[in-house]
Amino acid sequence: MIRVAINGYGTVGKRVADAVAAQPDMEIVGVSKTRPSFEAYIAKARGFPLYIADLSKRAPFEKLGLPVAGSVAEMLARADVVVDATPGGVGKENKPLYEKTGVKAIFQGGEDHEVAGFSFCSDCNYRMAMGRQFVRVVSCNTTGLCRIINTLDKEYGIAKVRAVMVRRASDPGEVKKGPVDAVVLDPVTVPSHHGPDVQTVLPHIPISTMAMIVPTTFMHMHAVQVDLKKDGKKERILELIRGHPRMGLVLGGTGIKSTAELKEYALDLGRPRGDLWESCIFADSIAVQGKDVSFFQAIHQEADIVVENVDAIRAMVGSVKDPGESIRMTNEALHFVAI
Ligand SMILES: NC(=O)c1ccc[n+]([C@@H]2O[C@H](COP(=O)([O-])OP(=O)(O)OC[C@H]3O[C@@H](n4cnc5c(N)ncnc54)[C@H](OP(=O)(O)O)[C@@H]3O)[C@@H](O)[C@H]2O)c1
Repeated sequence: MIRVAINGYGTVGKRVADAVAAQPDMEIVGVSKTRPSFEAYIAKARGFPLYIADLSKRAPFEKLGLPVAGSVAEMLARADVVVDATPGGVGKENKPLYEKTGVKAIFQGGEDHEVAGFSFCSDCNYRMAMGRQFVRVVSCNTTGLCRIINTLDKEYGIAKVRAVMVRRASDPGEVKKGPVDAVVLDPVTVPSHHGPDVQTVLPHIPISTMAMIVPTTFMHMHAVQVDLKKDGKKERILELIRGHPRMGLVLGGTGIKSTAELKEYALDLGRPRGDLWESCIFADSIAVQGKDVSFFQAIHQEADIVVENVDAIRAMVGSVKDPGESIRMTNEALHFVAI
């Protein structure tokens, strides 16, 4: 069994912990918190040992009936891999501890590429992650872009990608973030960081991106235009998406035209937390004119990177050599079949 620790048990950390615990070849040795909160109660209910960075804060946890198993350093000593899911920028501060312990560490998209020196997307560069001590799973938006770009590139070759990201303002539980009533350019200048971030995984892809933030919490929406190197065919593109384990088609017959309906659909499907691990491409939006392809895709920011973290663990440990096999194992353990 691969022993996995989760440092930072918040939006991403708690989802990765559940996904790891569901895998037949992995176990959770502990999760970490800095303060008692509802997530600490969830960790206890799941049976995940709770660790804290600063043991002088043990009393406030234990007073609330939340037993503390030890320090983060002790948790790391029990792990083969730590998934760092602390807020952006904190992972970089944690890296010296991982270096000292020798534990393999996965950082999230809130960290710069340089923190790990390698940026990961399961179906793009799994094999290149094998044996590494540090890997960064790219952000939710970058993951969504990489999946479809890599798929179209393998089939047709890509001359240029242009994408506009309409980003959710905050996750549903983040009550203090905004905007409440504004469209915020993110940033005003072009390109946004997403294009260069895609190039950390797919360096040969010419891509320009623009982004804005809108007052919603459900999902991001991407408007993507791709110049292929050869003429495309809509039927073939639909087939490629259908055959991809991490991309799904939002069919016209569902009547879904919004992220709100899509999220409701995921809840009705019985997905845990209503999570959509797949990129959700609107089938009717796919327009192909010769080499030009356009489409909309919705990305569930809290979820798509979860399954990538699980694959990254197997790649780094080297227990599964074939990316397709790891993706299959991850999906199967979550009973996940893309929409
Ligand atoms: N949320 C998303 O949609 C999303 C999507 C893709 C990637 N990411 C990336 O994933 C990472 C985590 O984001 P998140 O949204 O999960 O953040 P989050 O919800 O704020 O969770 C982070 C957790 O880390 C804990 N924490 C804070 N400081 C810590 C420290 N010094 N040591 C250990 N734990 C600490 C916090 O727990 P306490 O309450 O105990 O302090 C918090 O619950 C970021 O890099 C982010 O950019 C996020």
